[in-house]
Amino acid sequence: MPMESIPMVRLPAGESIPVMGLGTWHLGESPARRASELAALRLGIDHGLTLIDTAEMYGDGAAEALVGEAIAGRRDEVFLVSKVLPSHATYAGTIEACRQSVRRLGTERLDLYLLHWRGQVPLEETVRAFEELVRLGTIRYWGVSNFDVRDMAELLSVPGGEAVQTDQVLYNLTRRGIEYDLLRTLRAHGLPVMAYSPIEQGRLLRHPMITAVANGHDATPAQVALAWVMARDGVNVIPRAGTREHVLENRAAVDLRLTEQDLRMLDEAFPPPRGPRPLEML
Ligand SMILES: NC(=O)c1ccc[n+]([C@@H]2O[C@H](COP(=O)([O-])OP(=O)(O)OC[C@H]3O[C@@H](n4cnc5c(N)ncnc54)[C@H](OP(=O)(O)O)[C@@H]3O)[C@@H](O)[C@H]2O)c1
Repeated sequence: MPMESIPMVRLPAGESIPVMGLGTWHLGESPARRASELAALRLGIDHGLTLIDTAEMYGDGAAEALVGEAIAGRRDEVFLVSKVLPSHATYAGTIEACRQSVRRLGTERLDLYLLHWRGQVPLEETVRAFEELVRLGTIRYWGVSNFDVRDMAELLSVPGGEAVQTDQVLYNLTRRGIEYDLLRTLRAHGLPVMAYSPIEQGRLLRHPMITAVANGHDATPAQVALAWVMARDGVNVIPRAGTREHVLENRAAVDLRLTEQDLRMLDEAFPPPRGPRPLEML
C-alpha cells in the first residue's frame, strides 16, 4: 500500500514542516554504526521525513557531521534544525557556535536554530544574536527548547522575542505535563510544539497497554507511541532511528489512526495531568 503524504505543521512565520522528522542524538558517535545511520537518515529523507533535528551538543559535533554527510548534494530537500548550548548563548558565542554548526553540516544556513535550554545568559542577548544570524542569512528562523510557561512568557516580553517559531520539549505518553498549561500557552501564540523523545528513548516499547493497542491495528508499540503524539494539533515528532527498519516503521506510523477507544485505553494507562507540573527534560 503506498504511504500517504506527510501532514504538515505550520510555523508562525507561515512555512510548514513535516509532522515527523528525524532525531539525531547519539548518532555519529560509533564508527561501527556509521554506515547504518547514514543509510537510515538518507532513507528517511527519501520517504518525506525531511525535518532533521540535531545540535552542537550531540557527540560534540559528531551528529552534525553525520547529518552533513547524509544531506550532501540534497541540502534543499531538508528543513535543518540545530541548537546552541546555553553556555555558548552570549551574543558573540551564539554567532560563533552557529558558524561552527553550519561548517560541520556542510551548508551555509540553518532553517531553524534553537536555544537548547535556558541558561544564565539574558534572553535578550541571545535573541539579539539570533536576529543578527537571520540578518546575515546564516539562519532562517529561531526558536527555543525546554522552555516552560514562565520562560516562554519572559521570552515573549523581550524585544524581538515574538519571532520565536517553536518550543522543542519532552512529550510522550509518560510525559504529559505540558497538556495542563504549556501546550495551551503555545497554541495561544500560534506556536507548534516539537516533541522530543516521543518513544521515551525506547522505554515505551514494552508497555502492555501500548502493546494491546498496537495488536489491534497490526502495528508496533513504537508506531502507537508516535501516532498518539501526532494526533495532537500543532505537534510534530522527531524520533531518532539508527536503522533503515526503524525509519520505515516510524514513517508508517504517520498513517496510523488511533480510535476513540484506543485513546481512552491509553488515557487510563497514562492519565493526563490534573495540575501544573514542572517541565521535564531528558
Ligand atoms: N531538545 C532537547 O533537549 C532534546 C532532548 C532529547 C532528544 N532530543 C531530540 O529528539 C530526538 C528523539 O529523542 P531521543 O533520541 O531521546 O529518543 P526517542 O526518539 O524517543 O527514542 C530513540 C530510541 O528508540 C529506538 N527506536 C526508534 N524507532 C524505533 C522503532 N520503530 N522500534 C524500536 N525502537 C526504535 C532507537 O533505536 P535505534 O537507534 O536502534 O533505531 C533509539 O534507541 C533526539 O534524537 C534529538 O534529536 C532533543
